[in-house]
Amino acid sequence: MSATNTSEIHQNAISILRLNDKGTYTVPTHGLYPFQWNWDSCLTALGQSHFDENRAWREIETLFEHQWPDGMVPHIIFHELDDGYFPGPDVWQTDRPVATSGITQPPVAGFAVKRLYERASDREAARTRALALLPAIDRWHQWFFECRDPADEGLVALIHPWESGRDNSIDWDAPFQRVPTDGIQPYHRRDTDHADPAHRPTKEQYDRYLWLLQHFRGLQWNNHALHDESPFQVVDPGFNAILARSCHDVATLARELGLVEIADKNQARAEATVAALENLWSDDYSQYLCYDRIAGVHQQSASVAGLLAVFAPIPTARIDSIVAKLNTMAENSRFLVASHDPLDNRFDGKRYWRGPVWLIVNYMIIDGLKVAGQLDMAKRIETDSLKLIGESGFAEYYDPKSGEGCGGESFTWTAAMMLEFLKD
Ligand code: DGY
Repeated sequence: MSATNTSEIHQNAISILRLNDKGTYTVPTHGLYPFQWNWDSCLTALGQSHFDENRAWREIETLFEHQWPDGMVPHIIFHELDDGYFPGPDVWQTDRPVATSGITQPPVAGFAVKRLYERASDREAARTRALALLPAIDRWHQWFFECRDPADEGLVALIHPWESGRDNSIDWDAPFQRVPTDGIQPYHRRDTDHADPAHRPTKEQYDRYLWLLQHFRGLQWNNHALHDESPFQVVDPGFNAILARSCHDVATLARELGLVEIADKNQARAEATVAALENLWSDDYSQYLCYDRIAGVHQQSASVAGLLAVFAPIPTARIDSIVAKLNTMAENSRFLVASHDPLDNRFDGKRYWRGPVWLIVNYMIIDGLKVAGQLDMAKRIETDSLKLIGESGFAEYYDPKSGEGCGGESFTWTAAMMLEFLKD
């Protein structure tokens, strides 16, 4: 990329963040996703921090204003009505002052807040805002272990694929067979009005998403019942790595700010989760695998979740094996990191989380590799990410073989990640 090109792309990234800014929260993209999404917002704040620190803090504060009394932070906040999205508040029926969904999403907030704090130029404001957010993030972490790890295994389970953010991953294919498709109220999908249906989950998958939603609604969204009552309980290594990293970062920041109890609790959680991740390691696949808690089996599915584990402080030997695996993947696709192994015959380069590259995942993998001193592979993934934006713009995700941009356009978190990549 030439210098002019770089500065133009930088400006375009800022323009996208402004275009999608609703004042106190940012939509992932207009049309397809017209509300506030949990992990989108936290990662968006990192991009905003490069040109408006105050606005970046606000993004995360808005999200936590909608935390549930039990500690859960929902995956969608329906700030304003918009019937261009399905399923909306009338389907979720969560009975909140401002409507929200009833499930959660990858807990990147702890990581994002530490990063905002470290880079803040207004140190006093950063201190005040971090001190206010840390207890809320700690409550969310506690909620995870109370409600999604009832047997105290050190690993939390997802009860809906939407919680992972990787909605239609091949990881869910087998456990999803247990989720029925009968008794679903008739519905009209809206996502395929905005994006190419060939890039989106199938109707059968939507039926199962909806069945789970209706089932949880029937249990009044009681988080002390949902885990055990769900036919879908899957332990995802990427999700747990994000949780472990956030616990680790919250512990470090809380200690610096004198919140000793929060620091101690989060340090213990991070250590327990990193230790338990070992149970998901597969020598055959040279990566971590998802675990179906109901069937008691590991998923034979080489998805990016098992590589994303480098985001947590995992053992060096595991990182080395994952880097070797990434080198092999680089021989089979033009751009790293595909969301599923391109050599698997279920790989689909354009269909959402069954193959495409997602720059937020690249960002977290790069970050983990840098912490571990794996700078060559980190650089390789960063270069691929910049090339994808240079060739195909700010897409939601990209085909790892052709580089084609797929899904929504003018996408917020892709723009935010670009600003992160360009910062050095
Ligand atoms: C969707 O609607 O596609 C989302 O991923 C669910 O959060």
